[in-house]
Amino acid sequence: MGKVIGVISIKGGVGKTTTAVNLGAILANEFNKKVLIVDANFSAPNLGLHLGIVDPEFTLHDVLNKNVPITKAIKKYEQFDVLPGALLGRKINPFELKRKLNDIKKDYDVIILDSSPTLNEEIIATMVASDQLIAVTSPDFPTLSCTMHAVKVAKRKKTPIAGLILNKVRNKKFELSLEEIEEATDVPVLAVLPEDIKILESVAYTIPASQHSPLGKAVIEYKKLAAALIGENYKDPRVIAKIKRLFSKNVGKEEVNRTLLKEKLKEENLQ
Ligand SMILES: Nc1ncnc2c1ncn2[C@@H]1O[C@H](COP(=O)(O)OP(=O)(O)O)[C@@H](O)[C@H]1O
Ligand SMILES: [Mg+2]
Repeated sequence: MGKVIGVISIKGGVGKTTTAVNLGAILANEFNKKVLIVDANFSAPNLGLHLGIVDPEFTLHDVLNKNVPITKAIKKYEQFDVLPGALLGRKINPFELKRKLNDIKKDYDVIILDSSPTLNEEIIATMVASDQLIAVTSPDFPTLSCTMHAVKVAKRKKTPIAGLILNKVRNKKFELSLEEIEEATDVPVLAVLPEDIKILESVAYTIPASQHSPLGKAVIEYKKLAAALIGENYKDPRVIAKIKRLFSKNVGKEEVNRTLLKEKLKEENLQ
């Protein structure tokens, strides 16, 4: 049975869709997993646009409100599958999502849900349809307060939160630190992603950043996170990383958290 991972935040523009696209593409391309990425941002879907899918014949909206079989709306994008939404979204019942996904869970190793940023039934539908959540945040107070809210709602819905992605980090003194964010949310940070122009470029080219810039700074961090989410290792192949490994034994807190996550996964699989 595939694992459903929901990517959430109660704020737009923090990097949910980017995360869904890149984790999905990396799990498929580099780790040979069968992956489906679903646009669960029902009111303002734009996952398709990140991948050049503009006007698909069938969408998740058709699946939810016209009973179109879900397999008909799933599109192949190179190594992975995508379930896009209708750009001009129609009224649907978002809570049907979980039931529809149950029919196809067996066909995938991982299903990633790109969620809505609004705290309404849409994001709740993602929470209840997911086996595990990843919350995306950035190192500033307004986003942190939204992230704390998202974590609280997810805990109430009883969907485990694997951890946070700290995105768009510029390493400025005024930014909140990883420790401050972990302390405020009580959730481990699993990846720290720099603000990276390659991400913006890849959106303009409508391909995943992992394909546009396979050794880009942010992409490498996505690769490490993707590996941890399936209990595998990824060693940064860049020369700079090899030199750093040689001279420094200091590992970042996010790397420690990923190791703990991998150990937990191992334990779960043994049970
Ligand atoms: N690490 C990053 N560096 C630079 N730009 C980024 C990064 N992550 C996301 N972006 C850009 O920020 C914008 C919003 O990202 P998106 O994934 O659409 O956010 P959300 O889905 O949370 O609304 C996009 O233009 C995306 O390319
Ligand atoms: Mg989005």
